[in-house]
Amino acid sequence: MPHQITLIPGDGIGPEVAAATVRSVDATGVSIEWDRVDAGIKAEKETGKFLPDSVFASLDRTRVGLKGPIATPIAGGHPSVNVALRKKLDLYVNFRPIKMLPGLKTRFSDLPIDMIIFRENTEDLYSGLEHEVVTDVVESLKVITKTASMRIARATFEYAAREDRKKVTAIHKANIMKMSDGLFLRCCREVAAEFTQIEYGEMIVDNACMQLVMRPEIFDLLVLPNLYGDIVSDLTAGLVGGLGIVPGANLGERHAVFEAVHGTAPDIAGKGLANPTALMQSATLMLRHLGERDAALRLQRALESVYEEGINRTRDVGGTATTDQFTDAVIAKL
Ligand code: NAI
Repeated sequence: MPHQITLIPGDGIGPEVAAATVRSVDATGVSIEWDRVDAGIKAEKETGKFLPDSVFASLDRTRVGLKGPIATPIAGGHPSVNVALRKKLDLYVNFRPIKMLPGLKTRFSDLPIDMIIFRENTEDLYSGLEHEVVTDVVESLKVITKTASMRIARATFEYAAREDRKKVTAIHKANIMKMSDGLFLRCCREVAAEFTQIEYGEMIVDNACMQLVMRPEIFDLLVLPNLYGDIVSDLTAGLVGGLGIVPGANLGERHAVFEAVHGTAPDIAGKGLANPTALMQSATLMLRHLGERDAALRLQRALESVYEEGINRTRDVGGTATTDQFTDAVIAKL
């Protein structure tokens, strides 16, 4: 029986990196039936909705999605489709491994960087609750709940125990947001107390940003509320070669949607320059989730040997290869 996967190519470079990733996953030999559905700009043109019901109908059937980035207008316009999808499917864990690829030179490549971000994915300042109290005075509500904080903390520690990771650091600003971030921290502490074999630490987010740049090798697993998780993801992506590299997974009880950390990259969209590594590495997470460990390993090794060789790299990581040339090189390794 082939695996059924919902494919959401998305906007900007999304269709380019999604096509490249589908080609590389198919080349592993794993049997997949891709159910392509649109969300974002194309969907709105065709159906009048940025997030049509067909997306949920497909994901309800397949339970697993591979998703490209979707654009969100700035300072106005419709709310984020990405946030809506995560909330509606209750994809409460945003899992983002940050790791050096072999052979890739960055300012930090001499350091053994291997950390995983566990970003709470459903609340915080992404509640979408904003209003103008009186003219020129605006409030945004930061919502932190015990339920959401406990389950992201539990997901982090359970992963640490399962995968034999050594340390969890909770990142917060509870010195200022004593109630909201204070609740988040109390939940992390409560869960940490159940996992005495795993070292637990806490760091204020501004200091954490400095430590991540100065001594990234001291971090193992990081657990963060939604907004800090978003910002720290891009910061840490910068340590290992940029947004073209870092994969991710949105995980809930029923569904899993795999997507890169990066956005639609409008500056390079349609030019064949996008680096599909981030979505390909998201696909290796997806293959593992599907129980296809061998295919996941082979795709990961193929990616790594293309980086090790250093001949076919895209422009963002210092090469000259196009998206297609890079993808062909990965497939040749497979
Ligand atoms: P971005 O991640 O799209 O781009 C930031 C920089 O990284 C740009 O210079 C871009 O060219 C580069 N970059 C990103 N991915 C790359 C790749 N695969 N290969 C080579 N270079 C890459 O962030 P930006 O410009 O802040 O956001 C653009 C749009 O994307 C916005 O509408 C934003 O809301 C949306 N977005 C969507 C996300 C999602 O769907 N999960 C996540 C982040 C942003």
